[in-house]
Amino acid sequence: MSTRVAVIGAGPSGLAQLRAFKSAEEKGADIPEIVCYERQEDWGGIWNYTWRTGTDEYGEPVHCSMYRYLWSNGPKECLEFADYTFEQHFGKPIPSYPPRAVLFDYIKGRVEKSDVRKWCKFRTPVRYVEYSDDTGRFTVTVDDLVADNVSSDEFDYVVVASGHFSTPNVPQFEGFETFNGRVMHAHDFRDALEFKGKDILIIGTSYSAEDIGSQCYKYGAKSITCSHRTAPMGFHWPENWQEVPLLTRVEGKTAHFKDGTTQDVDAIILCTGYLHHFPFLPDDLRLKTENRLWPLDLYKGVFWENNPKLMYLGMQDQFYTFNMFDAQAWLARDYMLGRYTLPSKHEMTKHSKIWRAREEKLEDDEQMIWFQGDYVQELIDETDYPSFDVEGVNKTFMEWEHHKHEDIMGFRNNAYKSLMTGNMQPKHHTPWLQAMDDSKESYLDTK
Ligand SMILES: Cc1cc2nc3c(=O)[nH]c(=O)nc-3n(C[C@H](O)[C@H](O)[C@H](O)COP(=O)(O)OP(=O)(O)OC[C@H]3O[C@@H](n4cnc5c(N)ncnc54)[C@H](O)[C@@H]3O)c2cc1C
Ligand SMILES: NC(=O)c1ccc[n+]([C@@H]2O[C@H](COP(=O)([O-])OP(=O)(O)OC[C@H]3O[C@@H](n4cnc5c(N)ncnc54)[C@H](OP(=O)(O)O)[C@@H]3O)[C@@H](O)[C@H]2O)c1
Repeated sequence: MSTRVAVIGAGPSGLAQLRAFKSAEEKGADIPEIVCYERQEDWGGIWNYTWRTGTDEYGEPVHCSMYRYLWSNGPKECLEFADYTFEQHFGKPIPSYPPRAVLFDYIKGRVEKSDVRKWCKFRTPVRYVEYSDDTGRFTVTVDDLVADNVSSDEFDYVVVASGHFSTPNVPQFEGFETFNGRVMHAHDFRDALEFKGKDILIIGTSYSAEDIGSQCYKYGAKSITCSHRTAPMGFHWPENWQEVPLLTRVEGKTAHFKDGTTQDVDAIILCTGYLHHFPFLPDDLRLKTENRLWPLDLYKGVFWENNPKLMYLGMQDQFYTFNMFDAQAWLARDYMLGRYTLPSKHEMTKHSKIWRAREEKLEDDEQMIWFQGDYVQELIDETDYPSFDVEGVNKTFMEWEHHKHEDIMGFRNNAYKSLMTGNMQPKHHTPWLQAMDDSKESYLDTK
């Protein structure tokens, strides 16, 4: 019986796993039989945009948390695949903060050229995964939505790549029931034009809060009030943007904050993050963590320590993204191919705890970036993933942080050098605040 691998999800992480196996096959390796189950009708994960919110046409929860006019929030030079550069894909250097459609095209480009679509079963959510100590295999139960048919199959390894920015974390605040406006989570935000001329309250201070607030500003919101639980974001915001302490209650249209101040608002957008949610996994296989750089129970951030035949990709909070998922997938592949040996469970847990102890001491974004860079470096040192200048990526992240603190509405007007090709990338033809056309064609229209 040949070895069989199930990959759950065809987003950037799951696709990294498919690409990793393909790369080994191209170099002559015998690879296992691979089946990638994907709930959506196409690959690309969260980058596969839909106008839908709530449930889809099959009654499945909509995975997409992206919105119209979304541009990358970090330089593309920091996420570039080491084995497939932007210049290779687009045929020329392009600006550093691409809109969603450009990144979606790039993600798809590598796998389209790799002939791995035949391994994917779309519109097929995984409903349950069980492990048998007797057979040493997993039973994976899936639902073919189109045929309306539930079936089960056996696998030697399971790779969970189902993402963790899709199931919203929705806190309750007093008075929401009677608020005379719209209350929504960032997961359901689609078009900033809906809020043109409106007074908006945003709860949260991380990337969704910053970017959705900036979108609303760009597309003509009357005012933006950002409410924090821990600390304000502290950027140099425009005139009609204020940062306030945490919301305590809402009365009619009036929001009350911890410092006793109030603000009348038309809509409340909860940018309060997401839950790691794996309804298809039993307790003994399920990762339980909040969004952080070093979740416990995963050796090398990948292998489920209680049963390493189960692997997780992309479960960390993310500065590094696509090339980190690649590094993880290459290591998982090497384990499944018998090229990489795991230490004892005791050693795995010890190693994870050392990383966690280091993570707990991190004080700011810069330290977090260097920490995640060290992690990526450790992974690529152990595989044949093309080595790249991780220190250079970290330094590009530092420039990015600096540009954001200099001009939060203008940081996307900067350009950086590719760490993969060494070429300086061009600046975009239009400053971000004036660039209303976020199509691929407009973005690629560089001289
Ligand atoms: C609003 C937003 C903006 C972002 N912007 C950026 C950015 O600018 N730059 C950046 O680098 N990163 C960004 N990210 C981070 C993003 O998480 C990663 O870029 C990347 O998409 C993570 O890939 P993934 O494959 O791990 O997860 P996802 O992209 O979430 O893909 C997971 C896939 O698993 C599938 N799936 C889930 N459950 C099942 C199931 N039971 N059965 C079968 N399939 C299933 C889903 O349908 C989906 O296709 C953003 C995230 C959000 C939420
Ligand atoms: N354009 C883009 O590329 C773009 C846009 C949006 C999002 N993203 C990505 O999406 C991912 C998720 O980002 P995110 O901002 O949604 O989530 P996140 O980084 O996990 O942040 C969650 C935020 O919610 C706050 N929060 C949670 N519970 C709360 C509560 N009960 N009351 C008040 N505040 C609460 C947290 O505050 P505390 O600090 O107090 O814990 C934190 O500020 C990131 O990887 C990000 O890069 C990218």
